[in-house]
Amino acid sequence: MTLAADGGTPVRTRPLPSGKGAEVLGPQERTAVLRVLDRGALFRYYGPVPPEEVAAFEDEVAAFSGEGCRAVAVSSGTAALRTALAALGVGAGDEVVVPACTFVASVNAVVLAGAMPVFAEVDDTLCLSAESVRSVLTSRTAAVMPVHLDNGQADLDALLAVTGPAGVAVVEDTAQSMGATLHGRRLGTIGDVGAFSLQLDKNITAGEGGIVVTRDERLALRAAAFQDQGGHFLTQHGAGRDHAPDPFVGDNLRLTEIAGAIARVQLARLDGLLDAMRTAKAAILTAAGPLPGVTMRRYPDPVGEGGSGIGMLLATPELAARFAAALCAEGVPAGAPYGGQPVYATPAVMQQRTAAMKGHPWHVPGVMAYAMGMCPQTEDLLARCVRVGVSPAYTPADVDDVATALAKVADAVLR
Ligand SMILES: Cc1ncc(COP(=O)(O)O)c(C=O)c1O
Repeated sequence: MTLAADGGTPVRTRPLPSGKGAEVLGPQERTAVLRVLDRGALFRYYGPVPPEEVAAFEDEVAAFSGEGCRAVAVSSGTAALRTALAALGVGAGDEVVVPACTFVASVNAVVLAGAMPVFAEVDDTLCLSAESVRSVLTSRTAAVMPVHLDNGQADLDALLAVTGPAGVAVVEDTAQSMGATLHGRRLGTIGDVGAFSLQLDKNITAGEGGIVVTRDERLALRAAAFQDQGGHFLTQHGAGRDHAPDPFVGDNLRLTEIAGAIARVQLARLDGLLDAMRTAKAAILTAAGPLPGVTMRRYPDPVGEGGSGIGMLLATPELAARFAAALCAEGVPAGAPYGGQPVYATPAVMQQRTAAMKGHPWHVPGVMAYAMGMCPQTEDLLARCVRVGVSPAYTPADVDDVATALAKVADAVLR
């Protein structure tokens, strides 16, 4: 069959659904929003009637996360990372190890904490390589931030074997993987602190929003204080704000009651959304049949990964580019994560530019810490990677189309 890229008929012309929780926003979310408006309780700490949504959402996330977990809701995933780092006391003079393959928010949170991001390689999991982390640890390393990319797990068993003896904290960036598990434990609950996002593209959404999860009571209190001006407020009535025993300078990263109400409905849907993605992904791969020449991204626990992406590694960057372009022409969006570029290629990161520029330990005039080629394994993997997304909203016909396109393109491009 002639590829659409070569003038043939595309497998599909209608766009595929691409969202996750956002695809199933419906009457329950609407009812939840109206409930908040009708009560007139928009603010999470006080108002005409006691607020209840964000506090209930935190309790529900804690229960969802597992025995002994505490949750603090915040205004975004980036806010969750910043809050997690603040809770740990990470700041000036500290280094935080970040994978070379991630969204720029992971790096931004470290820089905004006043610390120095240090990049380590990812491996065939597309997540942080424990061996690479070991090679970049210094006496200044305060934390390591594995990023569970696209609902797949970083190999935390290997990573904790490196960070544990070194006494280095682990902040799991779980923005893209809420609900996915590693050997039965929810991602984001295995290291010291987990950070989650409720942004539009994530497993569940409230438009914007984030959550910090930890089993450590002290970290939970510090997180709660940091996202509410550092625990300084004395203005509460109704349901009160917690006062930190030792207030510090914090930020306003509070989640609104409307977002909290939507997030509660979405959280109740989360396991179902993950099941739907896992089922659709398995069906696609079965129907597509063997894809010779394609190595699948490795999952440390294939059962627990969330199923939102089919990550494929091709032999060369040229082949990967042809494979992705041919899939796109068939009507199945495909491409390398982050355009095939490591996060340090982002101009602001590569040039170490902050808003103020002066005085940040990251910005030492004339000293550039980063250069292309510094994580060659990651650069190679990203250049050879093609990802096809999977939505929980896929119908059997959508599954069929993606599988047909994969088989057709593999046959033509990889034969
Ligand atoms: C890996 C990763 N970390 C952090 C974030 C930041 O989340 P948010 O957009 O909610 O600030 C995102 C997503 O946007 C992400 O993909």
